[in-house]
Amino acid sequence: MARLGVNIDHVATVRQARLTTEPDPVAAAILAELAGADGITIHLREDRRHIQDRDLMLIRQVVQSKLNLEMAAIPETVEIALKEKPDAVCLVPEKRQELTTEGGLDVVALAKGLQEPIRKLQKEKIEVSLFVDPDPRQVIAAKELSADAVEIHTGLYANARGVRDREGELKRIVRAVEIACDVGIGIHAGHGLTYQNVAPVAAIAAIEEFNIGHSIIARAVLVGLERAVREMKALVSG
Ligand code: PXP
Repeated sequence: MARLGVNIDHVATVRQARLTTEPDPVAAAILAELAGADGITIHLREDRRHIQDRDLMLIRQVVQSKLNLEMAAIPETVEIALKEKPDAVCLVPEKRQELTTEGGLDVVALAKGLQEPIRKLQKEKIEVSLFVDPDPRQVIAAKELSADAVEIHTGLYANARGVRDREGELKRIVRAVEIACDVGIGIHAGHGLTYQNVAPVAAIAAIEEFNIGHSIIARAVLVGLERAVREMKALVSG
């Protein structure tokens, strides 16, 4: 049964829209766990556009399940992770202008620079996943770097228009999962998944963890966070 990590960045986005104190992502983390989330995911961006350092510190203290910190592999955030000790780190590419993470990390090209951050984090018993496109070369490169897991980028699948394109993208995900099984690396997936499109990906039995944010928080605005988390948990765990 796959785990559901709930990404609560968008709660912080609403707060930052007014530079005020509510809604507090710390409260969201607690509620999401009470509703059955298997983990809480937050992205500490270099520009601090949503999650703040204070959020990470407090969320680290309250999360009882698994805290997964998404971040760029830069010295500043690596130092913060080593201090705050999330259970897991997901290394992502980051561009200042992007609305959200666009595309996976080019692990093949960046392999040398990723070695040290991965080693330092793992030394502190922090599980490291690499956010990669559904591309066998990237999965193999992640394994060669001894990452604990890959998080397969499902954004192209989510954005595909038309049945043919969507099926093509789903096949790429299935292929990447097969390669990950063959080489022996943990398999997570996320980005752009919604209540409408998650089922075919959730049906891939080897995926161990889903990290889903925007769709859950968007639904929570209308039906409440607990119900939104429960409904997504039912979809990912089949
Ligand atoms: N996984 C990673 C690596 C991400 O960067 C994001 C977005 O922060 C997510 C999962 C969640 O994506 P979404 O908000 O589209 O569900």
